[in-house]
Amino acid sequence: MCGIVGYIGDGNAKDIIIDGLKKLEYRGYDSAGIAVYKDGKLEIRKRRGRIVNLEEAISNEDLQSGLGIGHTRWATHGAPSELNSHPHSNADNTVAVVHNGIIENFAELREWLSKEYGIVFRSETDTEVIAQLIGIYYDGDLLDAVYRAVDKMRGAYAIGVICSKEPDKLIAVRKESPLVIGLGTDCNFIASDIPALLKYVRELYLLENNETAVLTRNAVVIYDAERKSVKRDVLHVTWDAAAAEKEGYDHFMMKEIHEQPKGISETLNRRLTPEGEIVLDGISLTKENLENFNKIYIVACGTAYHAGLVGKFAIEKLARIPVEVDVASEFRYRDPFVDDKTLFIAISQSGETLDTLAALREAKKKGARILSVVNVVGSSVARESDDVFYTWAGPEIAVASTKAYTTQLVCMYLIALYMGRLKGTLSKAECDKYIGELKSIPEKLERILEKEADIEEIAKQLYKTEQVFFIGRGPDSGVSYEGSLKLKEISYINSFAIAAGELKHGTIALIEQGTLVVALATQDRLFEKMLSNIQEVKARGAYVMGIAKEGNTDIEKQSDCVIYIPDCMDEVSPLLAVVPLQLLAYYIAKLRGCDIDKPKNLAKSVTVE
Ligand code: AGP
Repeated sequence: MCGIVGYIGDGNAKDIIIDGLKKLEYRGYDSAGIAVYKDGKLEIRKRRGRIVNLEEAISNEDLQSGLGIGHTRWATHGAPSELNSHPHSNADNTVAVVHNGIIENFAELREWLSKEYGIVFRSETDTEVIAQLIGIYYDGDLLDAVYRAVDKMRGAYAIGVICSKEPDKLIAVRKESPLVIGLGTDCNFIASDIPALLKYVRELYLLENNETAVLTRNAVVIYDAERKSVKRDVLHVTWDAAAAEKEGYDHFMMKEIHEQPKGISETLNRRLTPEGEIVLDGISLTKENLENFNKIYIVACGTAYHAGLVGKFAIEKLARIPVEVDVASEFRYRDPFVDDKTLFIAISQSGETLDTLAALREAKKKGARILSVVNVVGSSVARESDDVFYTWAGPEIAVASTKAYTTQLVCMYLIALYMGRLKGTLSKAECDKYIGELKSIPEKLERILEKEADIEEIAKQLYKTEQVFFIGRGPDSGVSYEGSLKLKEISYINSFAIAAGELKHGTIALIEQGTLVVALATQDRLFEKMLSNIQEVKARGAYVMGIAKEGNTDIEKQSDCVIYIPDCMDEVSPLLAVVPLQLLAYYIAKLRGCDIDKPKNLAKSVTVE
């Protein structure tokens, strides 16, 4: 959500920034802009829409400069217009600012700046307030002006600042929104995410909350809130820049769907000994801790929340501890029953989702122990948790989450199994059986991917549909929610997921001739019940696409088409059942001509409330 790139050095800031912003496109945006220092002035250019619009607009301009900041904006305050795009500047255009996040007291500050200083605002944004504040406080010391401005601001933000009166520096501030600093030779960078910088640097500093960094061509100094300089360890990025490229696939989403077998193996390998024992290195969950917990909350958003729904089934079944799953944006406002007997599990791919982070903090304040399941190493959720279980899916670029979901599921199974063994609710033999099943998933998943062409054919018949229902029972109901979300977010088809048994309590009224129903029937013990639910919708004219395990061919009698997944234990079937749904959503979206990796209105990492 919004992207920042800044550069200071001997290179051409304009090209480096545009290139970096393109790497951040996955975050979602609706306009882009750049400010560079040139001939004693700040030159600011902005365009609505994609970065290429901006690139084309400035392609013939001589904007050669060694200092600049750029931004992709996802509109919050004010429409996605050129005027509201970043960078924003102060009254005399000597200060330019790019900003991610939200300034909560911006209306108050705006009024104050207008009344006290006669500032006339040019945009509707909260960001312009920052530029104007720095402008009025500037008195020959940019760092001082930034500190004074930040002192007035409330909210969550990451900002980059340049000033024509001090062209030897680039200043960055972080509060809640992520910001990294790239350390080059005779040049330094800022960015809101690592992929933007990997072409240029591998050594980074992760800025912490309430820290300000001053970047010059040859140095980076980080200061804390009290303006004392702080030391920071250098993070050396080992993953390849290619991990953030499409590698021949048409879309990141498809590449990431295909990376799932590898991601799952990696997640398992990190936590299993060659003998199949689960090792939770760095996670200090003891038998006593577990006995102390009387409840577990799993809290997350979107796809991560859906992983939590399956996690609940796994933990309750294998470890016999009551689990509540909540969407993070609700959890924090409902005064939940949290105390020191609560284990709070946060699930997040990015580790920067503001709602999840806020819920985590709420739970921590009330004494809960925090365990997080996170993909991005060093992210805010990871840093603020007592224990972190990394998913090791590798960078996920497509807005629609796929490999993060399946690796999150693997983590939830491993946590459930570990707890079950620790509590004694699961025998060694049973645990070994589950581990064996999990280890077989990557190969089974490859077999589903081989059916890609069949799913594409089904998509060809179905892509014009305007309404889809996903139904399932037990763990399949969690997968239904995920299948439905995948479809709606990338194809913009109105889709709805519901526990199959709940259908008859109202929603079935919407089923009519030709309504598409995707029925997940992968649970052996619930298979017959699902067949009855399928019959109910068939009787009302639905077109049914069934998902079942190989061998359960009875489903063919009630369905119009069926995709089989390899046989597996009921508990782990979500790892396989979700894959046909990801592929179905992908192909339907492709046939409808949708922007698959960057769906409209969506952002990869939602860092606002
Ligand atoms: C998934 O396809 C979505 N784009 C979205 O629901 C996402 O899962 C959600 O915003 C949570 O993100 P996180 O995992 O980074 O916290």
